[in-house]
Amino acid sequence: MSLNYRDRIPNNVDLGTNRSLQRALEHWQPKFLTWWQDLGPEGFQAADVYLRTATSVDAKGWATYGKVKMPDYRWGIFLAEQTADRRIGFGDFYGKPAWDQVPGDFRSTLRRLIVTQGDTEPASVEQQRLLGQICPSLYDLRNLFQVNVEEGRHLWAMVYLLHAYFGRDGREEAEELLARHSGDADKPRILGTFNEPISDWLSFYMFTYFTDRDGKFQLKSLAESGFDPLARTCQFMLTEEAHHMFVGETGIGRVIRRTLEVMNEINSDDPEALRKAGAIDLPTVQRYLNFWFSSSLDLFGSDVSSNAATVFANGLKGRPDEGRYEDHVCVEDVFDLDKPDGKGGVDIETVPLRNAMNEVTRNAYVKDCMIGVKRWNRSIAKAGKPFELTLPSTRFRRQIGSWAGFSVMPDGTPIDEEAWNARANEWLPTEADQQFVHSLMRQVTEPGKMASWIAPPDRGINNLPVDYEYVHLG
Ligand SMILES: [Fe+2]
Ligand SMILES: [Fe+2]
Repeated sequence: MSLNYRDRIPNNVDLGTNRSLQRALEHWQPKFLTWWQDLGPEGFQAADVYLRTATSVDAKGWATYGKVKMPDYRWGIFLAEQTADRRIGFGDFYGKPAWDQVPGDFRSTLRRLIVTQGDTEPASVEQQRLLGQICPSLYDLRNLFQVNVEEGRHLWAMVYLLHAYFGRDGREEAEELLARHSGDADKPRILGTFNEPISDWLSFYMFTYFTDRDGKFQLKSLAESGFDPLARTCQFMLTEEAHHMFVGETGIGRVIRRTLEVMNEINSDDPEALRKAGAIDLPTVQRYLNFWFSSSLDLFGSDVSSNAATVFANGLKGRPDEGRYEDHVCVEDVFDLDKPDGKGGVDIETVPLRNAMNEVTRNAYVKDCMIGVKRWNRSIAKAGKPFELTLPSTRFRRQIGSWAGFSVMPDGTPIDEEAWNARANEWLPTEADQQFVHSLMRQVTEPGKMASWIAPPDRGINNLPVDYEYVHLG
């Protein structure tokens, strides 16, 4: 399939041969651009940014680099190549041919899945829109904008599916995706985490590490879908998503590296002394981690879920890396979940595996989150500092699932509410923490220069030096 770059909307879906679809999308395009101008990165729409743009879905062309003004970015519609004779890989329709059209019985469920995924993409752009004004370097500023334009493209990917396969309902949903706004009192985004403000760069790195990783696992599940256009769309989105998590992992890693340097410079690990020296103390990093990890866990949904069982049974949403499992039908298997016993302890509940699919995916996510934590801890250990970052228990600070509303310590021990409240300051960012982190956020835009609280990256983008002018402010 060749990519059509002559069209107003770049695509590899032969948009030119479907006039009514093309017209519908061209009608939506100016609304998207208005949204981007109003709620995209504030103050940088005229800047030249060194961005990668997908020009084809193969290994050679999916990342083409060059300077571009963000409103001129070529947001396009790209689906991974079709696999000949693809079969549904799980659920009740296991082994049947994958669907090229929406199966009538599952139309509204499928639409809901696409809308929920689609809603997160513009939400994160909205959450991050003011971060450019306090960027720690031009390198980081560019990475922020790369993430933002790609989330914009992911919105395009979902809007394409809605327009192409869901008729008038789909077009209405596409309008709604631009009408809801992150944190809006009347029309908030669908999922909680995507209404949390991101007003400092430590939060931004935590978000790209933990929340974009939730995105990765949702996309992996949808990339297994029996509805082939959705599967192929998500497969290609995953290639872009990897960079977002890289920004998070290396961002947190650089914060930690700078803190370790300052610890050596001032020969102290006292949080107050470190703060005075302009670095972020490690207990504060841990509290931010606790917040964003626990918030992102809720995005996977309830641990016991008939909804999850249904979308699995119907072949709409599989498990991440479904091919790695032996049994793809899962009607006999069970899953052990722990839940509060109502007496301050923990009970085991055995449920049918299909009902525990959210938990299966959440567990795979937690394992994946550990990789970066281990890497950060290695750098702390190498510097000879007795501190270890940890992921809190999945019971900690949950708002969804059987642990919702229960007071649990980060190590997973249930405690009473009063004791929890008395210690919350140890576990979650306090107002003082946030004020301190905000006080560090000063815009740095001299090429190669870094803010006091973060170390430079190991290397630049696309083999360019770190001090390359990644954003020309104009
Ligand atoms: Fe995305
Ligand atoms: Fe992302």
